[in-house]
Formats: sequence, structure tokens, C-alpha cells
Amino acid sequence: DGDVFKYYCEGEWKKSTSGKSVPIINPTTRKTQYKVQACTQEEVNKVMEISKAAQKSWAKTPLWKRAELLHKAAAILKEHKAPIAECLVKEIAKPAKDAVTEVVRSGDLISYTAEEGVRILGEGKFLVSDSFPGNERTKYCLTSKIPLGVILAIPPFNYPVNLAVSKIAPALIAGNSLVLKPPTQGAVAALHMVHCFHLAGFPKGLISCVTGKGSEIGDFLTMHPGVNCISFTGGDTGVAISKKAGMVPLQMELGGKDACIVLEDADLDLAAGNIVKGGFSYSGQRCTAVKVVLVMESVADTLVEKVKAKVEKLTVGPPEDNCDITPVVSESSANFIEGLVMDAKQKNATFCQPYKREGNLIWPLLLDNVRPDMRIAWEEPFGPVLPVIRINSVEEGIHHCNASNFGLQGCVFTKDINKAILISDAMETGTVQINSAPARGPDHFPFQGIKDSGIGSQGITNSINMMTKVKTTVINLP
Ligand code: G3P
Repeated sequence: DGDVFKYYCEGEWKKSTSGKSVPIINPTTRKTQYKVQACTQEEVNKVMEISKAAQKSWAKTPLWKRAELLHKAAAILKEHKAPIAECLVKEIAKPAKDAVTEVVRSGDLISYTAEEGVRILGEGKFLVSDSFPGNERTKYCLTSKIPLGVILAIPPFNYPVNLAVSKIAPALIAGNSLVLKPPTQGAVAALHMVHCFHLAGFPKGLISCVTGKGSEIGDFLTMHPGVNCISFTGGDTGVAISKKAGMVPLQMELGGKDACIVLEDADLDLAAGNIVKGGFSYSGQRCTAVKVVLVMESVADTLVEKVKAKVEKLTVGPPEDNCDITPVVSESSANFIEGLVMDAKQKNATFCQPYKREGNLIWPLLLDNVRPDMRIAWEEPFGPVLPVIRINSVEEGIHHCNASNFGLQGCVFTKDINKAILISDAMETGTVQINSAPARGPDHFPFQGIKDSGIGSQGITNSINMMTKVKTTVINLP
């Protein structure tokens, strides 16, 4: 069936023997846009076997050659930004301009990783024994970083290209092989991206990409004995994976309920601009989106007015037209968001705009006077709905932030840097941004969540280190 995109194994594009496919529904038209292969467990076994073999020789390939291939892939990816961005528009309704940005950012990420890799992997340590009590200088210890083996990368729908390469590039520079399981929405963009690595000329079998239903190959992949490390970005599934995965290192970025604390002395225009950008970019479908505003009562009316004015200027419509607010990824996601909105309505939140929805398209909505008994105060809508909770003390804001099961990022707006630092220290999140909205990038910054928001740390350097293991050789002198 020529209509079904093939999966990638052994350096070739293949049809699954299942004869089945998985449809990708365009969030805007709600019609099938593309189809991908529904790979079988036998095909996953084969991929694992090939990955293991390919990794052995890749680990012996000089570091500078690995870097050279990555630079090549980065350049090819950037050359193909238009068709890949087009897929992102059709599969995940990402605004056209942001879709191009995602691909370019991914190319830059690959190049940076190649450069960083040759530096940090090009260095080891040398230790001597007589610094530890009771020892003479009779032992020399050499350390280096060795690859883990086969890395399983599972990126989410919201950045199918960028959050795939943020796993692929560090894995490869460090001498690992890689198996990619893209999200269904975004799978075709990911396949195109993999094709760029194919064109760059990586050895056969080093990179594989299997598509299919999570229910058929999801657990099979994450519990596969051939996997030596899992790097996952996504939602609750990550918690389930962490419970089932074997004794392998896990790198996980899961949800967030990033709080924005606004103090009395804040620059309210700056805060409002960041709240709108942070809360509504890609229609709120980012784990680092501002997901709750905690504002001091004395400035709340002014802030809400400013945010409201900016929300009203957001354009709503199809991603092809570069609208700010585009349809959310699926009907079930839209239904979930609507559930949160209805709950807030029932419990008397103030609607700054009327609630409006057409298909998967939900108009941006600011909810004022949200209280802790409302679901929206705690749950992640992953949509263009932003709750405002009015607080009477900084402590109240910190308490709300820390009562969350999530701990990804947070932000605080104030002109008092000392206060900002103290609040940052008190917030139980992986990152706190002072006077700006939460964000993962620049991509070499450390990126991590605590509690249900994740395991380990990402960012280019941390990901390279995480995908290696320290190896020591000790020379014993006579
Ligand atoms: O939602 C995925 C997360 O990694 C966010 O990235 O760049 O939108 O802050 P970013």
C-alpha cells in the first residue's frame, strides 16, 4: 500500500508484515492525513538485534567521525525544513512559523551536541591512590566515558522532531545506537527527520524507527531486554514506564503545572506579556507552559486586565494561517480541557472570555478567581486555558506551587532580586525563571523536573553524560 509511510530498519524503509497501519488524524480537519506502519513485536525484536550489532562497531568509530556525520545530518535537516514543517502543521496543528522554528532549532541542537560531545568525551580523568588514607602512590586510575548500548527514545507529540533529536544526537555522539518510537501524531515528521540522518550516511542499523500502536509495541519496547537506556518525554505513561522498566537508566520529562508568581512590585506589563506567551504559545500544549498564575491580590485586577487585553488579540484558527491558537491535538484532548472548564464554571470561576469551541479548536480562555477546590487549579489542561489564583502572601503562592505533584519549572516576577532568589530556593521545581516565562531552551541549559515531572536532567551536556557510563582502568605499580 503506497499510501502508508514505511518504517526504518537496517538502513532501509520497510513495510510491516502486519499488513496493518495506524491513521494520523489532522487535528484541524479531523480527517486521516497520513498512515504509518503498525509494526509487530517480531519486527521490534529484529530492530533490537540489529541495533545491538550496529552499536558495537559505532563505538569504535572515532569521535570526530561521529561528530562529522552529525554535523552533516544537521545541515540536511535544515535544508529539509519546509517539508518537515509541513508535516508538523498537518499532524499536530503547530502554527506554520513555529513548525519551521522547531526544525531549525533541531538542526542547531544536533550541531551543538556534536561540538559538545567531542569536547566532553575527549577528556577523561587521572587519579592517584595516595590521596586516600593508608595508600602509597602505587595505583593510577584512568577514567573515560563509554556508551550504554541501545538507547530507546520516545518523544511526545508536541515536539516530534526537536524532542527526538534531543535524544538521538547525544546518544549517537556518545557511541550508542538508537531506536526511535515516535508519537503517532508527529510520526511522519519524525520519519522525515530520520530520513535526514539516513541521507547523512550513518551506518546501517545504527538508527531505527518503529511506528505502531502503543498498546501493541509500547510495553514490548520499554520492557525489551535489548534496551540499555530509555529517554522518554510525555505524560503519565512515563510513570507507568518507570515502574515496568528493567535495571536501565531512565531519563524522563513528564508533565508540569508551572506556576507564575507575580509580586506587588512586579513590572506588570512584562509579567502580562510573559503570561500570555507562556500560557498560550502552541495553544498551551507545552510541558513548560505557564499553567497557573498566582498573583498578589493588590495587583491582581491590573494584571488580569492587562492579560485579558493581550488574550483578546490572539488570533484563532488553522495552523496554516499562522494563527496563535490552533486546534488542540485530538478530540479526546479537547474533551478533557472542556471537562476542566466546566468544572471551573460549576464552581464559579470568573470567565474573562466566553467559553467557545469548534471541533478541536478551543478559544483562549483566562479564568480568574480560581480556587483550590477546582480541578484546573491542579490539573494540566494542555490547552489554551489559564487559571488565575489570587494570593495574599508570597508564602501562599509558594505553598500552592509546592503542593502540586509536579515540579518542572516555575517563574517569579518582581524587581527585588533578593526576594526572587529566596522564592526560587523555596520553589520545589527543577528550574525557576526570574522575570520570564518558563522554557526549556536554550537547549544546552540543564532541564529537569522533580516529583512527577521527571527523572534525571536533560540539556545537551547532561544528556550526553546520561547516555554514557564511567569506565575505569587501574594500573597497579609494583
Ligand atoms: O513540552 C515539552 C518541553 O520540553 C517544552 O519545551 O521549548 O517549549 O520550553 P519548550
